[in-house]
Amino acid sequence: MVRPGKALAAPQLLLLVFLCLLAGGARASPPTDALRRVSPRAGAGGLCQQLLLPQGYPCTEHTVQTDDGFLLSLQHIPHGRNGIADNTGPPVFLQHGLFQGGDTWFINSNEQSLGYILADNGFDVWVGNVRGTRWSKGHSTLSVHDKLFWDWSWQDLAEYDVLAMLSYVYTVAQSKILYVGHSQGTIMGLAAFTMPETVKMISSAALLCPISYLDHVSASFVLRAVAMHLDEMLVIMGIHQLNFRSDMGVQILDSLCDDEHLDCNDLLSSITGQNCCFNSSRIDYYLEYEPHPSSTKNLRHLFQMIRKGSFAKYDYGWWGNLRRYGQLRPPSFDLSSIPESLPIWMGYGGLDALADVTDVERTIKELRSTPELLYIGGYGHIDFIMSVKAKEDVYVDLMRFLRAQQGMHSSY
Ligand SMILES: *[C@@H]1O[C@H](CO)[C@@H](O)[C@H](O)[C@H]1NC(C)=O
Repeated sequence: MVRPGKALAAPQLLLLVFLCLLAGGARASPPTDALRRVSPRAGAGGLCQQLLLPQGYPCTEHTVQTDDGFLLSLQHIPHGRNGIADNTGPPVFLQHGLFQGGDTWFINSNEQSLGYILADNGFDVWVGNVRGTRWSKGHSTLSVHDKLFWDWSWQDLAEYDVLAMLSYVYTVAQSKILYVGHSQGTIMGLAAFTMPETVKMISSAALLCPISYLDHVSASFVLRAVAMHLDEMLVIMGIHQLNFRSDMGVQILDSLCDDEHLDCNDLLSSITGQNCCFNSSRIDYYLEYEPHPSSTKNLRHLFQMIRKGSFAKYDYGWWGNLRRYGQLRPPSFDLSSIPESLPIWMGYGGLDALADVTDVERTIKELRSTPELLYIGGYGHIDFIMSVKAKEDVYVDLMRFLRAQQGMHSSY
């Protein structure tokens, strides 16, 4: 793998980035054209009102407050279009990935999207939305314009958001929960499952593109961003919210995709690797909902994982670590502390440039339990949620696993 080098000193780099930003603003750039062309969907209402109710699915909005004050929205789809209200199956909690939101599980057709498929197959579906996404922008005291609103990484998503959302579902459903996560949703899940108060609410976990280690990432865009120290540049420039739908966000993409170093003609492939079965004629529709914002601190934490090959808490530097953690290095999340009794299923792909097979294998080795595995050589990172054939390729097996854990009748 290519390890990002340390070619430039910080001041040079700063100048370079600003020059690139200026150039990016002036150039007509094909890869970001779609981002400029399609505006995020306007209009009031949450995910239920915008996406699910118009298609005839029952859907209610719920709000939970985390212990650090964030107001998160959850959607509840108790049954499918033809289901019966009182006859709900086991609760399934769906946790989306980075720069995505709960919409991601419903963004293809009813026959293709996991959220709809689960509801139509008798599961009681709950949809998580982490802080900072379009559906979860509230806080008890802060606004999205405050720097402090964006002062978090996936560690906080694991420690606060997962706990708050699962506790709510656990209380309402009065049942243990089937956890389904994709990408960052699996980082959050694996970190959260090391915590007894969280894992006690889970009956099993299905992880799509599981990530705990990231040091074999091969996505060209990501490696370039790491090599350019994009995370540190953003901090220096005072950018705390990472929003690729903003003018600044588009300019950052343009500056990284300058053809000479990186050809982002296919932006999604540059970021995630190739995908076999992505419906590119649907891009404008996807862009009405995604990408969602995240925080610069979250990007920094992910880059720390790429640079150091660790699955650990946020690194504040020696002095900061000493103050926060009482030790010089950030404590690791110990995968072997996830109870052996928790059944785990993993789906991962040979083309995935983010959840690399080598890193997935390391995760599997460090777990106490032996997960059920579904490896698809021709699948990439986005295929696991958006492939037009994901139902046959992935979801049928995923539902078999979920049902086996619950002893549920197969209606499929
Ligand atoms: C791809 O998306 C287009 C536009 O939404 C849709 O008409 C078409 O049916 C989709 N193709 C597949 C194979 O699902």
